[in-house]
Amino acid sequence: MFQRMPPLWLRVVGFVILVAVLGLALAFLIVQLRGPRLEVVRPVTIPEGEINPAVWGLAFPREYETWLRTKEGRKTLFAGSIPYDKLEEDPRLRVLWEGYPFAVEYGEDRGHAYSVEDVLKTKRIQVLAQKRGGSAPGTCWTCKSANVPSLMAEMGAANFYATPFEQLRDRIQYPVSCANCHDPKTMAPTIKHVALQEALQKLGKDTGALTRQELRTLTCAQCHVEYYFAKEPKDYLVFPWEKGTRFEDIEAYYNEKKFADWTHPSTGVPLVKFQHPEYELYASNSTHYLAGVACADCHMPFVIEGGIKYTSHQAASPWHRMEQACGTCHLDIPFIRKRVEIIQTITKGLQDAAEIALVEAIDALKAIKDNPNADPKLAEEARALFRKAHMRWDFVSAENSLGFHNPQEAMRLLAESINFARQAQLKAIQALQRPQARIP
Ligand code: HEC
Ligand code: HEC
Ligand code: HEC
Ligand code: HEC
Repeated sequence: MFQRMPPLWLRVVGFVILVAVLGLALAFLIVQLRGPRLEVVRPVTIPEGEINPAVWGLAFPREYETWLRTKEGRKTLFAGSIPYDKLEEDPRLRVLWEGYPFAVEYGEDRGHAYSVEDVLKTKRIQVLAQKRGGSAPGTCWTCKSANVPSLMAEMGAANFYATPFEQLRDRIQYPVSCANCHDPKTMAPTIKHVALQEALQKLGKDTGALTRQELRTLTCAQCHVEYYFAKEPKDYLVFPWEKGTRFEDIEAYYNEKKFADWTHPSTGVPLVKFQHPEYELYASNSTHYLAGVACADCHMPFVIEGGIKYTSHQAASPWHRMEQACGTCHLDIPFIRKRVEIIQTITKGLQDAAEIALVEAIDALKAIKDNPNADPKLAEEARALFRKAHMRWDFVSAENSLGFHNPQEAMRLLAESINFARQAQLKAIQALQRPQARIP
């Protein structure tokens, strides 16, 4: 018996199908072996001087759409982006910042897309304007808008800072976005802000020779840092890093300058109000920093979509996407989440203990303020100890990770804060007990 061959047309069709299937399989295999491609810069040019993120978004829709998602707000264990009143939640803060705008309003911050809206809303700007008899300084815009780098290039940095906040209002259109971190020609992450360029130069860093991984952290350090406004040139933005970026370097710098943001009324102690020192705490020998991990690794993780790999521009808490943000290096995500919870809960406990110690020190210091019966030397020592304690607590509490960015350093500073606050309290009590103090 012999089997009849299928007709010719059927054999041709069968052959074509076989070739097509093999071809597809081969193509699939190549894609799999090569791995996802990092999104390449498209030949669409962004017009010179363009600031509107929606226009940049025409060239880079994925980055733009993820950036838009910084509007999404989600609560996390202790942080996140849902606005709430921190003063209502923790009334001790009003005592600790008495006489300073932070005691008037202090809310949870939100994502980059809200930066202009939120700075216009805050009562702190209004209080500052009242205090200065008119307007807050233009310096307050520096970290809030994508218009800033080009405005500064046009006006000159000193002139920008010295211009009243209100007067710059009309020139500010877009919140923190593309033009704060990128040069549109190369799309490489770039340091566009003058204050960071100057601070790095003072530290002897060549800002032209930064590595890509350094830039994945330093683009954030343009804004997520401690700063102050110098008197000369007027309201000039300065990062207090001349001696280094660790807490003690910054403290030594401020002490040398006898710098104070305000004098705490009940105690008469000149104090410093810290602002979000995320970069400084992180770079103070944290485990991740020493291991070469960058801010962007955790806050702007890579995303893979349809064979394309790109950077999620939704800079947010990694809490709700730890698989993406931490999973590139850590395998056991439930374990790592638990570690974050433990670190933050311990930090919160120490932060509360420091606040309680500081509030009690304030009570003791009130009793010796302008009191002729108090031993002047002990009273002076008590005030100096209080300043040390307050600065350490404020540095950690103004930092936004509740200790996670550098658990050991945060706990060290809070432990010192508690120690110095109790010493201040004791010295203030002793200042009234010294018999010679009461001799007229
Ligand atoms: C190893 C991962 C990791 C690195 C690196 C890292 N962070 Fe974080 N960051 C976190 C975690 C975890 C939190 C806590 C989030 C929470 O409590 O919801 C956090 C919190 C924050 C917050 C507050 C977020 C919120 O929703 O309130 C900011 C802002 C922030 N980090 C900025 C930075 C900056 C700037 C750098 C670099 C100097 C940096 N982070 C480096 C993991 C990281
Ligand atoms: C806060 C700083 C920051 C802002 C704002 C920002 N980027 Fe980025 N961008 C980065 C960093 C960091 C990288 C990662 C660079 C690297 O790894 O080399 C990056 C990477 C990119 C890349 C390279 C491809 C990729 O996805 O990794 C493109 C394109 C890009 N950004 C476009 C944009 C656009 C468009 C906007 C505005 C909608 C924007 N960026 C806003 C910091 C920023
Ligand atoms: C030009 C200034 C600027 C730069 C650069 C910048 N940020 Fe921000 N960032 C802000 C401001 C301002 C806010 C708060 C906005 C608000 O509350 O309206 C913020 C908010 C955030 C938040 C959300 C905090 C919260 O509580 O929800 C995260 C997370 C964050 N930034 C991470 C980063 C990372 C990571 C980088 C670097 C890749 C970076 N930022 C670069 C100014 C900046
Ligand atoms: C780019 C790699 C990388 C990423 C991303 C990363 N880590 Fe890590 N992490 C490390 C390294 C390296 C260590 C040091 C210990 C080790 O070698 O295993 C570490 C250690 C830790 C530790 C122990 C800390 C200590 O001081 O002992 C915790 C907790 C942790 N990571 C949490 C996180 C969380 C949460 C995220 C995401 C938000 C994250 N990590 C993202 C690399 C990374």
